[in-house]
Amino acid sequence: IKTIGVLTSGGDAPGMNAAIRAVVRKSLANGLKVKGIKKGYMGLLNEEIEDMDRRSVSDIIQRGGTILGTARCMEFTTPEGQAKGAEICRKHGIDGIVVIGGDGSYRGAQKLSQQGINTVGIPGTIDLDISCTDYTIGFDTAINTAMSAIDKIRDTSSSHERVSVVEVMGRHAGYIALWCSIANGADDILLPEKYDYNEQRIIDNIIDNRKKGKTHHIIVNAEGIGHSTSMARRIEAATGLETRATILGYMQRGGSPTCKDRVYASMMGCYAADILAAGKTNRVVGYRNGQFVDYDIDEALAMKKNINEYMYEIARIL
Ligand code: F6P
Repeated sequence: IKTIGVLTSGGDAPGMNAAIRAVVRKSLANGLKVKGIKKGYMGLLNEEIEDMDRRSVSDIIQRGGTILGTARCMEFTTPEGQAKGAEICRKHGIDGIVVIGGDGSYRGAQKLSQQGINTVGIPGTIDLDISCTDYTIGFDTAINTAMSAIDKIRDTSSSHERVSVVEVMGRHAGYIALWCSIANGADDILLPEKYDYNEQRIIDNIIDNRKKGKTHHIIVNAEGIGHSTSMARRIEAATGLETRATILGYMQRGGSPTCKDRVYASMMGCYAADILAAGKTNRVVGYRNGQFVDYDIDEALAMKKNINEYMYEIARIL
C-alpha cells in the first residue's frame, strides 16, 4: 500500500479535524502518501481529491466541523456508485481509505473493500450510536455543549418558576439526552429507545413536584421524540404552569472539541493509519473497556447497542 485517502461522511462532529490530522501525519510518518477526499463519498464520485502534507492539517486540532467537508450521498448506496468510487480510487492511485463517520459510512467502506480498496472506519458522530464502541468522536463535546446550555435554561426556568422542555439531538439514539439528564439533574427524560407516549405520567410528576415545593421542572427530550413545542403547550394547558420549549439543535454539533475528543480522535486516527499501513481492510476502530481495538466491519455492523438500564434508572431516580 503506497497511497491512502481520508474522508469524513455523514453528520459532522467536533474532533473530526483532530482525527484527519492524525491520519495524515501518522500515514506520512509510516512512509505513505495521503490524499484528502472532500465532501465524503459525494466528493469521491466527483473526484474532489487533493494531495495532503503535514502543513495541510496545521492549525485544525482545535476547530469544530471538518476541513474536508461532509455529505450524505445516496448515489454511493448503489452498486454502480460503489464501483465508480473504486474505479476513481484506482485512477488516483489510492489503495486504501480511512472513513470517519457513522454506521452508514461504514457500509460504504465495506463495499469499497469488496471492490479491492482497503478500508478502515473511525467512529465519528455526536450521537454515540455505534454499537462496536463505547466512544465516538464528538459525543463528549456535544454533551458538554448541551449541558452548559441546559444549565442556562435552568437559571431562567427557576427564576420564573416555569416548566422547561429542552430538546437535544439524537434522531435515533437517546445517549445525549441520557447523559444530560443526569448531568443537568433533569426531572424527566424522554428517549426514543424508551418512550411510552405516556405524557400524563410527566404531567402528574410536575403537579406532584409542585405540591412538594419544587418551583421549576426540566424535561430533557430527545430529538427522536421531538414535538417539544406542542408538548410544552399541552403541559401548560394540563398543569396551568408556564411552560417553554427550547430546541438546542445544530449548536450541539459545532464548537471547539473538548480535550477528550481531541485526544481520542488523535489516537483513533493514528490507530486507523497503522491498520491500513499493515495492509488490513474492512476494519473499524473502536474503544472498548479502556482500550483502542479494531473489528471487522461486517461484525461491527451486526452488533447491537442498548441504553444502559442502570444509567437510565439513575437518571430517573436522581
Ligand atoms: O449526526 C447526528 C445527528 O446530529 C443526529 O443527532 C441528528 O438527528 C442528525 O444528525 C441530523 O442530521 P442532518 O444534518 O441531516 O439534519
